[in-house]
Amino acid sequence: MDELQKALKIAFASEFSFYLKAHNYHWNVTGPFFSQLHDLFGKIYEEVYQSIDQFAEEIRSAGAFVPASYTRFSMLTRIEDETAVSDDGDMIQELLEDSDRMVKILKMVFDLATREGEEGLADFLANRMDAHRKHSWMLRATITK
Ligand SMILES: [Fe+2]
Repeated sequence: MDELQKALKIAFASEFSFYLKAHNYHWNVTGPFFSQLHDLFGKIYEEVYQSIDQFAEEIRSAGAFVPASYTRFSMLTRIEDETAVSDDGDMIQELLEDSDRMVKILKMVFDLATREGEEGLADFLANRMDAHRKHSWMLRATITK
């Protein structure tokens, strides 16, 4: 399979997993900072979720079908699944590491898209990288430890 298509599917599955983890934390966070963290995780999952449809359609434009099941996502994602309910500090730390990881994954696909002259796709990926850098900034600024 085309290297760019494969990398796009990995980035998409990772982005969907990141979205789900942020939504998980929005629902399950507890502690004295509940309100602020519920809102912060809420802002993050909403921003990421809004990118999902376009991301999928970029994969179709690149000539591939979209992975869209939990089985396929678990085969492709580079973001570790969250099954436990962590404490609030661990949630911030974990989502921060995942957001930084997303920047790296997206940069890898951005470089491939640029090399192949796919400027529109590269532009979309650059915007996703910027969005994740912003999420990382807000999460890093929230760490209290
Ligand atoms: Fe909500």
